Amino acid sequence: MQIQDKKFELYLSEQEILNSIEEVAERINTDYKGEEVVFVGVLNGAFMFAADLMKSIKLTCEISFVKVTSYKGTSSTGKVHELIGLSTDIKDKHVVILEDIVDTGLTLSKLYSMVDHNAPKSVEVATLLYKPEAFKGKYPPKYYGIKIPNKFIVGYGLDYLEFGRNSREIYKIIE
Ligand code: IMP
Repeated sequence: MQIQDKKFELYLSEQEILNSIEEVAERINTDYKGEEVVFVGVLNGAFMFAADLMKSIKLTCEISFVKVTSYKGTSSTGKVHELIGLSTDIKDKHVVILEDIVDTGLTLSKLYSMVDHNAPKSVEVATLLYKPEAFKGKYPPKYYGIKIPNKFIVGYGLDYLEFGRNSREIYKIIE
């Protein structure tokens, strides 16, 4: 697949993605059994993951979205900007942040402070993809679907220059 100046090859099929989301949902359902949860999806990248995950969540829950940005092209700018803040009341509630991918972990730190500021009962992170080699943060995500090497990918919500988000599969860059 070609997006702008870069070529990509198939990396994760739709079925692999959906199976791993099912496993993440099962773990969350077990861990929060009998509790109420507020899920906070991170736009734009996590919109597909959030939609598919929520279909398998059996808890009493709310979902809300925030929008942050740190990437430009194929690498992080090192600065995270908050574009849409949190509008849901999360005071004394269990919060699970939904990310498409945790890379350096910079976005995650920003999200933790955005959420923590509002005095929740607890905060955890669920991400579809996790690049452990690139991670520089303090707290790795508690829930993740698939660990991947430090390669740039697109599809299933993830973009290259805003393109490629609409793909059902995930593609890896050909270098
Ligand atoms: P971090 O702050 O470095 O952890 O990056 C997190 C954000 O960067 C994600 O929510 C994505 O939007 C974006 N990102 C990180 N890696 C990739 C990738 O391989 N492809 C597309 N976007 C990515």
